[in-house]
Formats: sequence, structure tokens, C-alpha cells
Amino acid sequence: MIGILDSGIGGVSVLKEIIRLIPKGQFIYYSDSGNNPYGDKSELEVYKIVKQIVNYFFERGCVAIVLACNTASAICVKKLREEYPDFLFIAIEPAYKMVYDYNYNGKTLVMGTKATLKSEKFLSLYSKYNNNNTILLPCSGLADLIEQDNDEEIDNYLMIKLKDYKDIDNVVLGCTHYPLIKDNIRQVLGDVKFFDGSIGVSKELLRQVKLKNFNIEENDKFSIEFIDTGNNSFNKYFRFTDLLKF
Ligand code: DGL
Repeated sequence: MIGILDSGIGGVSVLKEIIRLIPKGQFIYYSDSGNNPYGDKSELEVYKIVKQIVNYFFERGCVAIVLACNTASAICVKKLREEYPDFLFIAIEPAYKMVYDYNYNGKTLVMGTKATLKSEKFLSLYSKYNNNNTILLPCSGLADLIEQDNDEEIDNYLMIKLKDYKDIDNVVLGCTHYPLIKDNIRQVLGDVKFFDGSIGVSKELLRQVKLKNFNIEENDKFSIEFIDTGNNSFNKYFRFTDLLKF
């Protein structure tokens, strides 16, 4: 069994790619919407929250955990790996290296949470692949609006936040909630190239489980369990299944 966590529904953008690669896997998706947003919390708060979810996955017998949240990955993965060196943690990061690989000369906007963009992990990636034509744009509150599924508010937010960036070529979606609003972003910025870490993290998961010889398709049958910590979990479940459709 593989545990996948996010501060809500955003990690579904990662889960979808994982299922494409591991179609007969058994998964638990933990949507911690009760604690959303992670991105405006302190590092200590996020670590404590994530640690509880990790312990829950341990109790459930998961063999690997995917941090399908850029914020949780940026803050927690190093410490978790130090604390549990034998356990497999897979972490996502803003796909800034993809810009370096595929469209280095393009003017680039990196959208992410405040916590991700100021984290040591992201800043070291940024300095390594810096194309000197990049703007870092913390989007406080955006994941929250996506979590609430409030399209009108999302459009208003984007109109104000992105108004000065109409000449952008590349947009790095550095929060797993943001791939869910690509169309809304396009409405403001036009035909930009999007980069997100979901494919990379899914490939890395598959590579690592093969390397470790984990039998993650042991029942030969796909299964997914959805857990949500918010107060309208019933609605969340329907949104989750809807987003999961291919
Ligand atoms: N989905 C999370 C991420 O990828 C962040 C949302 C939040 O701020 O809770 O960073």
C-alpha cells in the first residue's frame, strides 16, 4: 500500500500520474483539508502535522509515502528521511529544472506557496538552475480558494495577482493545487507553457519501488481509500472521484 498526502485536493494532480504508471496499485489518499493551507504556516507547525499523517500511514502498513504537496516536501522530507532512513519517502518540488531543460530562454514565473518559495530546498534548486529571467510569485490564499472550489474568487484573485505578467512564457506550477486551475491561468496569461512536478515524482516513485523490489500491485487490483480531515468530507469525496476521472 502507498500513502499519498496533501493539504487537500491538490495532490490528486499527482495521484493521477501515479495511477497511470501503477494502474493496479493500492493507495490511501490523505486530504488534510482540515489543516489547509500549509503554505502560510510555520515550518514547525507543518512538520508536526505531516508527522502525524506519516505515523498514520505507518500504522496502516504503507511501504512508501508520497508527499504530494510542495510545501510539505520542502519543509519535511529532509527531516523525515533523517528520522526514518530505511523508509521510502518520495517528495515533489517545483519543476524549475524542467524550464532549464526545455525552455531555458523563456521568461518564467514560478507560482508557489509562501513557505515553499522561501524554503532552503527550493532556493537551492533555484540558484542551481536560475535562468536569470525568472520571477518568484508567492500566492498566499490561492490553494485555499481552489480547495473551496470557488471559481469566481479564483478568477478575481488571478486577475489581480497576474496582471503585471502578461509577457510570461513559462509558468512553473509549484503547488499541487495549481494544475487544477490551468485554464483559469491561461485566461489571464494566454498560451503559456506549464511545468509541474507530477510526472517526475510519479516516475521517481516507480523507479524506487522497483529498485527496492516492493510488490505494490500484490492484489493485482486497483484500490483507493480517500480520507479527508475537513468538515465537508462528503462533498470532498465526490470532488475527489470527479477529479480522478481520466
Ligand atoms: N498543495 C500544497 C502544495 O503543493 C499547498 C497548499 C497549501 O498551502 O496548503 O504546496
